[in-house]
Amino acid sequence: MTGALEVRSLSVDLGGVPVVADVSFSLRAGERLGLIGESGSGKSVTALAIMGLLPEGMRAGGRVELAGEDLVSMGERRLSALRGDRIAMVFQEPLTALNPLMRVGRQVAEVLRIHRGLGRRGAAERALGLLGRVELDDPAGVARAYPHELSGGQRQRVMLAMAVACSPRVLVADEPTTALDVVVQDQVLSLVQRLADEEGSSLLLISHDLAVVARMCERVLVMYGGRLVEEGPTRDILSQPHHPYTAGLVATAAAVSSPSGARRPGSLPALPGSVPPLGRFPSGCVFRDRCWRADRSCEAVPQLCGRDHAVACWHPVGEGAG
Ligand SMILES: Nc1ncnc2c1ncn2[C@@H]1O[C@H](COP(=O)(O)OP(=O)(O)O)[C@@H](O)[C@H]1O
Ligand SMILES: [Mg+2]
Repeated sequence: MTGALEVRSLSVDLGGVPVVADVSFSLRAGERLGLIGESGSGKSVTALAIMGLLPEGMRAGGRVELAGEDLVSMGERRLSALRGDRIAMVFQEPLTALNPLMRVGRQVAEVLRIHRGLGRRGAAERALGLLGRVELDDPAGVARAYPHELSGGQRQRVMLAMAVACSPRVLVADEPTTALDVVVQDQVLSLVQRLADEEGSSLLLISHDLAVVARMCERVLVMYGGRLVEEGPTRDILSQPHHPYTAGLVATAAAVSSPSGARRPGSLPALPGSVPPLGRFPSGCVFRDRCWRADRSCEAVPQLCGRDHAVACWHPVGEGAG
């Protein structure tokens, strides 16, 4: 069975420097899939490549199949027709995605006019309904406002209303709550989950925050250096990470969330060092210069191996492993 979205050997190149390399995964129908990794790991570039929205100078290779059509090789016309309709994205900072000069009600209505061919009246009515569904207190007031007149949380709800307006098969949310304060974060995450569920959309949820993905997603992809280093059911990834990188992320998150800030005895080491800039990742395993298990064998690129829970590592951590 094919998934809602099939990503096959996706790569992104910037002037000969790989930003994303050999990324393959399936987003199953109705699934909520997380994509985690530290800042600078290539998560946003992966999302933009999927949407056909890469910045100047970046080029995508490989395939991204949506209902049998390849988005990577598709022309801009067809892509524009699918974007906002069959596949939609929510960004971290809605201010950059919303038009600053247009009232938000009209922006939501535009999506319906373009993709559903609704007239001005009908689109405006549906837009108001959508603004109500994203739990905005005063939908009519918000519809008349310009983006800068709204709070961050309100803007993110407006973006969500636009994203789900056409019941997309796939919803990509890139750090949708990172810019919001904790209470609003919780509300918006619940809203994302409810809307994806109601619209029957599969969700690809990107976050650097393990707790967010743990709460929302059944399955997780772990990215580092533009590559997928581990993939599996969320529970397994959290309780038995196989990649030293994932183990480091889990240990770091545990240290942050425990009241004393102390690591549990016998727990894995937290992540040493930091993410290098583009073009400075080592050859072979991209993580080997930060890895406590690395040796000569890590000079070769490890492939993602395993069925349900897969890892790309020559010396995986955990039971029965190296
Ligand atoms: N427009 C751009 N021009 C040049 N480099 C970029 C651009 N956008 C992202 N990058 C670089 O690509 C790498 C991956 O970035 P990104 O996908 O944004 O990471 P993440 O979303 O995981 O934090 C980083 O090294 C980042 O600096
Ligand atoms: Mg990002």
